[in-house]
Amino acid sequence: MSKKLFIKTWGCQMNVYDSKKMADILASLGYASVEKPDDADLMILNTCHIREKATEKVFSDLGRLREHKQAKAAKGQKALIAVAGCVAQAEGDVILQRAKYVDMVFGPQTYHLLPEMILNATGDRRVVNTDFPAETKFDHLPEDSVSQGPSAFLSVQEGCDKFCTFCVVPYTRGAEFSRPPQQVLEEAKRIVDQGTKEITLLGQNVNAYHGIDAAGATWDLARLIAAIAELKGPERIRYMTSHPRDMNDDLIAAHRDIAKLMPFLHLPVQSGSDRVLELMNRKHTAAEYLEIIAKLKQARPDLALSSDFIVGFPGETDADHQATLELVRQVNFASCYSFKYSPRPGTPGAVMGGVVPEDVKDVRLQELQTILFDQQRGYNQHSVGKIMPVLFDRKGQKAGQLLGKTPYMQSVYVDAPQRLFGKIVDVRIDKATQNGTAGTIVTTEETLNPSHERTAA
Ligand code: 5AD
Ligand code: SF4
Repeated sequence: MSKKLFIKTWGCQMNVYDSKKMADILASLGYASVEKPDDADLMILNTCHIREKATEKVFSDLGRLREHKQAKAAKGQKALIAVAGCVAQAEGDVILQRAKYVDMVFGPQTYHLLPEMILNATGDRRVVNTDFPAETKFDHLPEDSVSQGPSAFLSVQEGCDKFCTFCVVPYTRGAEFSRPPQQVLEEAKRIVDQGTKEITLLGQNVNAYHGIDAAGATWDLARLIAAIAELKGPERIRYMTSHPRDMNDDLIAAHRDIAKLMPFLHLPVQSGSDRVLELMNRKHTAAEYLEIIAKLKQARPDLALSSDFIVGFPGETDADHQATLELVRQVNFASCYSFKYSPRPGTPGAVMGGVVPEDVKDVRLQELQTILFDQQRGYNQHSVGKIMPVLFDRKGQKAGQLLGKTPYMQSVYVDAPQRLFGKIVDVRIDKATQNGTAGTIVTTEETLNPSHERTAA
């Protein structure tokens, strides 16, 4: 009888990718994934530490998992509870002390050792592994047990050496590491063999990618994207998350030259004030960011842009905040994420003076979001009436509906037959809201004849 595995995932796409890989590893041990923790034999919380209240959220979930563990114990059965990911890495000791019923704590770099850890977690013995092993998990990843679907993540780079003063990533994920290009290409081939049409290359600092091939040559991200584009199968390529400093000319040119590279870029700037950028250790100015955007737009005029912002970093004045609003107005983003600064223990920002009061942060966030949401709505509105190729990658909420993505990363709800799931189909955008769009299929040979496969976009 197969055992049941429950994984809850918080945070970034890297965690989504890691959870998928954990499920693949555990599938080889006879674990089948379930949607709810009830009756699971192994429950894993794959955690995120990037912003506030991460640890409290983990403890509140752990309380619930404990009840499932106790219910199983009452039936004479054993269940294991594991905390994985960046909270485990940063606060493993606290978790073990406060939650005696947790059996395993391991960081993002050691989950390939799960089979061994499970054997060692005997009930009286708890397993802790927050190492950064020299031999990476990527050398031990199993074949994918199930397809990721029409749109898949592929982790190519991990960790970060940038040390932005607000960020925990360099501490929880460790030093920057790039997978060898051959290993990435092999995984890309496997992914498309399973029917995936869109691959998103992932990394905390993905455009710092510098994988070394068998001949000892270093590949940058532009070269890796070009090689993936050459493969038969993937029709769309994306990458995230990038740092402005690593946006080199070849990568900018790739947006002009590689048709499969989608016209959307997430390029976090965090602030529009040079003073705050310096305090954040971002190593670039607002003008330099705008210059990069101008070059990108020259290479690919229809490129849709997205970013991350932090308001209320220590020392941020009202004038700094105005500079951020000004940068936003100049760029005109298609979508954005914006956050109030929250001090992360162990980072330089956490001990900086000039702490911004919470109510000031609230006002600044609201002011920023008013502009960002307006731009997002405007961007979607601008698409109304256009016909775009849409990849149907999710089921809609209603029966007879599919949810897809435009090249520009907008969500599109469409009344569409299920057989079009996983296909790229031309859709006319009819309606737009702040968060997405709705459209109608434009009848083509593809939609009339289901056996007709579209070739590369
Ligand atoms: N406080 C608020 N936001 C943060 N981010 C990272 N660290 C913090 C923090 N301490 C945001 C940044 C980053 C995104 C993933 O999360 O904007 O780009
Ligand atoms: Fe964190 Fe990104 Fe800065 Fe690295 S570049 S420290 S991951 S915000």
